[in-house]
Amino acid sequence: MPSAVDQKPAIELKNVTRRFGALAAVDGLSITVAPGEVFGLVGPDGAGKTTTLRMLCGLLDATEGEVLIEGDDVRTHLDEVKDKIGYMAQRFGLYTDLTVEENMIFYADLFGVTGADREALMTRLLAMTRMAPFRSRPAGKLSGGMKQKLALMCTLLHHPKILILDEPTNGVDPLSRRDFWLILDELVAQGLTLMISTAYLDEAERCHRVGLLHHGKLIHCDTPAALKAMYGVKTLEGAFVAAIERQAA
Ligand SMILES: Nc1ncnc2c1ncn2[C@@H]1O[C@H](COP(=O)(O)OP(=O)(O)OP(=O)(O)O)[C@@H](O)[C@H]1O
Ligand SMILES: [Mg+2]
Repeated sequence: MPSAVDQKPAIELKNVTRRFGALAAVDGLSITVAPGEVFGLVGPDGAGKTTTLRMLCGLLDATEGEVLIEGDDVRTHLDEVKDKIGYMAQRFGLYTDLTVEENMIFYADLFGVTGADREALMTRLLAMTRMAPFRSRPAGKLSGGMKQKLALMCTLLHHPKILILDEPTNGVDPLSRRDFWLILDELVAQGLTLMISTAYLDEAERCHRVGLLHHGKLIHCDTPAALKAMYGVKTLEGAFVAAIERQAA
């Protein structure tokens, strides 16, 4: 039987607004993500995706509203929240002169993961991502897709329960993107909750639910099937274009 603690949403944004001066980059946003759910955040450039994800990690404070991770307010429980989440920023910082292994050790150290635990986890992640043959290669010499896999591994080194990924496959070729999603599917099968922003609507199709952001507002939030049915279109791309056009009209 799941306990009451398990039933808390993994992520909750309650009427969250974030202003930069006069601009409301995120405007009255409410989203609840269940444990084990894969939630996709889509929207045009500047829609407020990164701002939203940064607030989930406590890197930015909300101007108004509440941000909760497993029921803990990010503002008052930052240490607990940091333990629970793995955040891969839109421009994740890898050290190009360091090897794959050295980058992983650097991030493991940062999280206080050492010794046998670190080695076991590194071995498992390198096998899962099929990056083991490149363990000694400098990060700067990896392909785009491999760099993103390395960034993902660095994000996973402290056993987070909730993964927050900001456009992790941007600019990556289709085969490598598919590969990346196979890894994500495996992590989700192991029980991780995933919130991911993406510019690729074929990726959004893989999410349980998709939130469409426009000018900081959530204009739709539903399953891919429901969003397509709403606009009578076959692809999420069609639904996305129709939704944005309707907003502009
Ligand atoms: N630190 C900041 N100071 C001022 N304005 C900001 C800041 N961060 C973001 N913004 C503005 O807030 C809006 C939302 O930006 P955000 O980066 O969240 O969008 P996004 O959906 O992630 O876009 P992209 O798809 O290009 O990554 C934009 O208009 C942006 O210029
Ligand atoms: Mg962004």
